[in-house]
This record gives sequence, C-alpha cells and structure tokens, in this order.
Amino acid sequence: MKNKFLSLFAIILLTTSCSQGTPTRRSDMLLKDVYSGFFTIGAAVNEQNIPLEEDVEDDGLYNHFNSMTLENDMKWSKLHPNENNYTFETADKYVSFAKSHNMGIRGHALVWYRALPGYMKSITNATELYEQEKKHIYDVVEHFGDSVYCWDVVNEVISDAEDEDLTDDNIYRQDDVWYKLTGKNFILKAFQYADEKLTALGIRDKVKLYYNDYDNTKPAKLAKTKEMLKWLFESNCPIDGIGLQCHYHMGSFVESELETAINDYYNLGKEYNHPFDVQITEFDVDIYNEDPSAPQVESYVDGAPKKVLDAQATIYDHAFKVFRRNSSKISNVTFWGIRDNVTYMNDPVEFFGHAGPNFPYIFDIFGEKKPSFYVISDYED
Ligand code: GLA
Repeated sequence: MKNKFLSLFAIILLTTSCSQGTPTRRSDMLLKDVYSGFFTIGAAVNEQNIPLEEDVEDDGLYNHFNSMTLENDMKWSKLHPNENNYTFETADKYVSFAKSHNMGIRGHALVWYRALPGYMKSITNATELYEQEKKHIYDVVEHFGDSVYCWDVVNEVISDAEDEDLTDDNIYRQDDVWYKLTGKNFILKAFQYADEKLTALGIRDKVKLYYNDYDNTKPAKLAKTKEMLKWLFESNCPIDGIGLQCHYHMGSFVESELETAINDYYNLGKEYNHPFDVQITEFDVDIYNEDPSAPQVESYVDGAPKKVLDAQATIYDHAFKVFRRNSSKISNVTFWGIRDNVTYMNDPVEFFGHAGPNFPYIFDIFGEKKPSFYVISDYED
C-alpha cells in the first residue's frame, strides 16, 4: 500500500514537472530523499571520505545519506587498544559531524573476533573474558549514549562451513578466543550487557541492538544463522534485528536468495513473537569474480569499462528492487563506502586475490554518478 502510494506520488510529481516544462528525474534528487518513504540510506565513512580535517576535499556527497557507519573507528582495537585506555577522539568527531549534518550513526561493532587487541586475545579463562566483555560494552555504550541509533552488538560469529550440520561446533566460528573460552554464550551475554547499560541510562528504546554478518543471505549460512536466532529468541535475548552485510561480487548475487533471507529472518521473529528488523549494513558490488579459479577478467587499472559498470548496475538494480518490495521489513540500507577512490577492497589485506583495483560504489573516483546510482534512483516499479 505504502509502495503504491509512493509510485502514485512519483507519477504526479513527474507529470506536474513535465507539464511545467522542467522534467525532473529522481536521479537529480538526493538519494536519502528518493528513499525517504522506504528506509534510511547510509554509508561507511572514514577519514578519507568525510572531511574531518581541513586539507581533505569536501565533495558534499555525504548529503545523499542520512545515516553513517564508522568503517573502523568504533571497533574495539580503535576505541580500546589497551586495557585501561579508551581513545574516543576520532569517533567523537564523527558524532559531532553526524549531528550537525542530520545523520544518524549505526554503531559498529561491539564484539568481533577481528580488530581485537592483544590483551583480549591472550585471555585464558572465561571469567576474565566475560569481565572484559562487560566492561567494554558498558563503557562504550555509555560513552556514545543515544548518539548512535543502533549497535552491531555481535559481528560475524557464524562459520563458513557450507553443509547442513547444525551442531553448535559447526554453526559457530571456533578458532577465536570468544568461542574457545565460552562456547556460544558470549553472544547472548553481549546483548544482555548492552541492554542492561542502555536500560540503566534510560535510552533503551532509542538504541536498537543487531547481529551482523556477511553471506547470511546464502542458504547454508541462512540456516545456521536461523538456528542461532532460535536459541537467542528462546533465551529471551534482547536483540532487535539482523544486519545483512551484502558484500556482493560479480556472479555471486542471487536475487531470490536475498528476498528469501529477508523474509525468513523477519518471519522467524514473528514466529517467536519477537519483533525483528532487517538492515542492509555493508552493501557494495565488487567488479571482479569472487572465486580466484573462475575465469578472471582483465585488471582494470585505468578504470572499469562501461559494460562492467552496467553489469554492476544490474546487480544494484535487482537488489534495490528486493529492498523496495520488502521495505516494511527493512529500516536502513547502508553502502560500505561512498566513492570509488577510497575502498577497503584496494587494501592489500582485503584484496581477496582480485585482478586489480576495485570500483564497488555508486559514485566514481571523481564523485560522479555511476550507472548504479542512476538505476537505483530512476527505477520504474
Ligand atoms: C566486515 C566488517 C567491516 C569491514 C569489512 C571489510 O564486513 O564488518 O567492518 O571490516 O569486513 O573487510
């Protein structure tokens, strides 16, 4: 119904403006306004794409977004590198920036096996691990208060095993300090600690709590994640929703899988009488093939050709069709970057063995709109 109303509104808007001789395309609007009736639109930010320092160019592209996620600056190792020492300065600058530009902040991420400082990795007993977990979550949640509208409380605990074995040891990633010392219980505890602190601060209703992961739209990980969620719901876990990272590669996107996953997670919440939100937390489309053994295209050192950008835009188009169709279940869609000149995919550590430089976003290296921007703005449904 909401969608029908929006389409009708769009037709009236287009007809009115055409009759006045000034055709208006949605791609001339800010993306957050194009999607205002659907969900908020976010971007991952870092010191290169948001101008905290004066010598960095202010391209104003952040105006397209009404939500931001700090790509790295709220991770444990950034905020709490030593046991008795917090370093909130950079994150606080983004909080001020977000406030003065009417952007909300998705807090990312409280508990993760990566970006974990040495003092955490060297803990050898569960009691101490729980103490540190509680202290970190209490302190960080208190520091940011309701400057963030949600937290990825736990990030990436489901294993990549692609089989149907749903025993705990197969569902969960096992090779990190968290699972080794506590089994799956650190997950439930993380949500409980965040909930306790937010409740004590009187802001629990303003800050929502999510579980976030990659590949959780694929059947194997979907099944494992649902198993974890059932356990969390049965344990009265104060979890409000799930983050689907949606880092896609050319060839890895399957529209029906995305739609099934969104509905499965949402409906599982219904089944357990546990209202459950879905967010798309790290969307991007890598222009190379995921599988290094698949025929790799050439390395696009001088930029990707039009046919590649068009193929990328088709994935954006189909994914956003799914997001719009299911917008009553989705409250936010976030891109994992803004323009192609700055991407973690070009970091050698994150390079995934790809053929060359990557161009995963909706704005090109110069900040110009790409085919992917146009298809998600000037959509026809
Ligand atoms: C995961 C994390 C992000 C980011 C990306 C890139 O998706 O959630 O914070 O580090 O990996 O590697």
